[in-house]
Amino acid sequence: MAGDRATDPRGVSASTPLLTSGCRAVGPVGKTVAMDNVVELEHLDGGIALVTLTNGKVNALSGAVVARIGEIAAELTATPPKVVVVTGGPKIFAAGADISEFGGAEEAVGITERIHVALDALAAIPRFVIAEVSGYALGGGCELALACDYRIASERAVFGQPEVLLGTIPGGGGTQRLARAVGGSRAKEISITGRQVKAEEALRIGLADEVVPAEELRERTMALATEVARGATIAQALAKEAIDRGLSTSLADGLLVERDLFVESFRTEDSQIGVKSFLENGPGKAEFLGR
Ligand code: COA
Repeated sequence: MAGDRATDPRGVSASTPLLTSGCRAVGPVGKTVAMDNVVELEHLDGGIALVTLTNGKVNALSGAVVARIGEIAAELTATPPKVVVVTGGPKIFAAGADISEFGGAEEAVGITERIHVALDALAAIPRFVIAEVSGYALGGGCELALACDYRIASERAVFGQPEVLLGTIPGGGGTQRLARAVGGSRAKEISITGRQVKAEEALRIGLADEVVPAEELRERTMALATEVARGATIAQALAKEAIDRGLSTSLADGLLVERDLFVESFRTEDSQIGVKSFLENGPGKAEFLGR
């Protein structure tokens, strides 16, 4: 049982359907594997998977980008690293859906379905997923950041759901995930005005979790990723699962989920290591195995 959990703590099988049959993203440590030049996956030392949007000047979330995000999410679920970082360009994290691909309601069905599938897959990776937001995260870019577990923003970052300015609404999870992050009334105000939310305000309202000077963004992101990667990976995955499942259900049902997963955590070798290390050496000194 513990072994099963070690490879697949959220029960998502390696046969999770890929959104495209394009090239695969997994490569050896330190090697970047080009994803048709729209999204890159790099495996850094220490078990950090770095996902970088590289789709031209504004990182528009075209159909190809969305498909690659889904494909990478499936890969990182089937063969999880220790932690995941999602980032974009220095000025623009992602400018939202590719507006040039918009058509009528028929095209909209495919657009919203595909981005929901891809961002749900990203959110379900059984590891801590950090969004590193350097600049504009608008529309689908904001939704992409919200699908991550945690957002570290540069003080130059700008968030927003400007779809209403095009006469439409967020279709990549924004109405739901933004409301869960900042509350219903603030989510409505942001989505209904389409205004831009600067980093400091994003931090204040819970849309960003940390804001750092632009020149310190990568250092801070990697420091957090490294700290997480050294932790008890399976326990981290179980904590994420308990919180995510609890947020979509009642408190009573969420507490039942917690009870089950708490017990499950004691089936890992890491729990034995962590408890023994605490009793012998005090807190924070355990060297976990990730199983
Ligand atoms: N989809 C398609 N093309 C986009 C785009 C998008 N989401 N966002 C920007 N572009 C294009 C622009 O049309 C422009 O094309 P051009 O060079 O052929 O004229 C190019 O990218 C650069 O955009 P520009 O607005 O000139 O850059 P900027 O640096 O001044 O501003 C943004 C960057 C991100 C603030 C601005 O482009 C913007 O607000 N984009 C739209 C965001 C949006 O509404 N997203 C929700 C989509 S549903």
